Amino acid sequence: MPRSTSPFSGRRIRAAVIGAGAIGRGSHLPALTRLAEEGETEVVAAVDIDKDAVEAFCAEAGIPHAYTDVDLMLAEQRPDLVTIGTPPTLHRAQTVSALRAGAWVWCEKPPVPSLADFDAIEAEEGTDGGPYASIVFQHRFGSGSRHVRRLLAERTMGRPLVAHCQTTWYRDTAYYAVPWRGRWQTEGGGPAMGHGIHQMDLLLDLLGPWSEVRAMAGRLVHDVETEDVSTALVRFENGALATVVNSVLSPDEVSRVRVDCERATVELTHLYGHANADWRITPAPDVPSEQVAAWRDFGPDVPSSHLAQLRELVASMRAGERPRSSGPDGRTSLELITALYKSAFTDTTVRRGEIGPGDPYYTALHGDAPGWAPEEAEEVPA
Ligand SMILES: NC(=O)c1ccc[n+]([C@@H]2O[C@H](COP(=O)([O-])OP(=O)(O)OC[C@H]3O[C@@H](n4cnc5c(N)ncnc54)[C@H](O)[C@@H]3O)[C@@H](O)[C@H]2O)c1
Repeated sequence: MPRSTSPFSGRRIRAAVIGAGAIGRGSHLPALTRLAEEGETEVVAAVDIDKDAVEAFCAEAGIPHAYTDVDLMLAEQRPDLVTIGTPPTLHRAQTVSALRAGAWVWCEKPPVPSLADFDAIEAEEGTDGGPYASIVFQHRFGSGSRHVRRLLAERTMGRPLVAHCQTTWYRDTAYYAVPWRGRWQTEGGGPAMGHGIHQMDLLLDLLGPWSEVRAMAGRLVHDVETEDVSTALVRFENGALATVVNSVLSPDEVSRVRVDCERATVELTHLYGHANADWRITPAPDVPSEQVAAWRDFGPDVPSSHLAQLRELVASMRAGERPRSSGPDGRTSLELITALYKSAFTDTTVRRGEIGPGDPYYTALHGDAPGWAPEEAEEVPA
């Protein structure tokens, strides 16, 4: 139940959408619309630098105010919640502007291009009751991941021992012909950052903190600055060992997270989202059938989705509590990815917590590594 002191009690949360592109139109707006039907939210404004796009977006959805300028929208509309679906290099500035205007933020993955950017955002959050900035990691949400997270936390299947985390997708040459793709500055990273982040984030959400990573990266097919495939070995604090693969070179596309525990294997196989039926639990031979039935009881099916996460976020706002996927909980997959790149480019084992201010990987995922960092732009004579 909302606290009586909540600034949102007894009224709808006033939301604004920044970015009227594919994800704004396809995921943010439908989730907000559904919660509006339930009396939770109302969408008061949308922003995009493309004037025609944002005006069409507002007209189609009945949103009263279209803007091309984020700061003007924030000043005039004072929304309670801002959703951000713009390219990753804009996430830091737009999130900070929204927090400073007093709005909670729900920003798309990948969160920001570096840990330094993430920490700068965290420094702008409220200290007691918000506003907070959370990252869209919709695969953590829904009945499947909630059930398995609880089983793993309660250790009912025994200790987790071995894990696999696989994002093996396929992107062709035409995909990388778009100028902003494949570049650190504009895409933020390669498939580890742009594609595999969802699976790695889910693995961390299920298994808890990692402790060290050893990785390799390759540029095998595409004419890109970043990698087009990476592999990593990750040790978790609880002792489990995991392999991670992030590829855009794999014609047979699949997303998979698998955890072998002492008494059962849990496996999720999907592509871009999961429901209860995508999870499989295979017991060790001696486990009683009633126990197996209890493990396999996922409850009513709530597929992973933007809606499932937004519903929890709105509840956190009403309770004045830090939402999941914000702060340290929202930073964890970015830290693992940063460490994956550092390990791959320096041929070393990287430990959690070691990348901080002064480390070149703190401010840039390529870490200025020879052969990986962008070439210096030629100086133009005056
Ligand atoms: N959670 C997921 O599963 C998922 C899926 C796809 C994309 N994404 C993420 O969503 C984000 C956007 O991706 P997309 O596919 O929607 O891209 P897109 O290009 O379709 O949309 C981005 C929109 O941002 C607008 N924009 C650019 N600069 C702006 C500015 N300064 N102010 C306001 N608007 C601006 C563009 O005009 C465009 O309409 C990316 O971070 C992407 O990784 C997440």
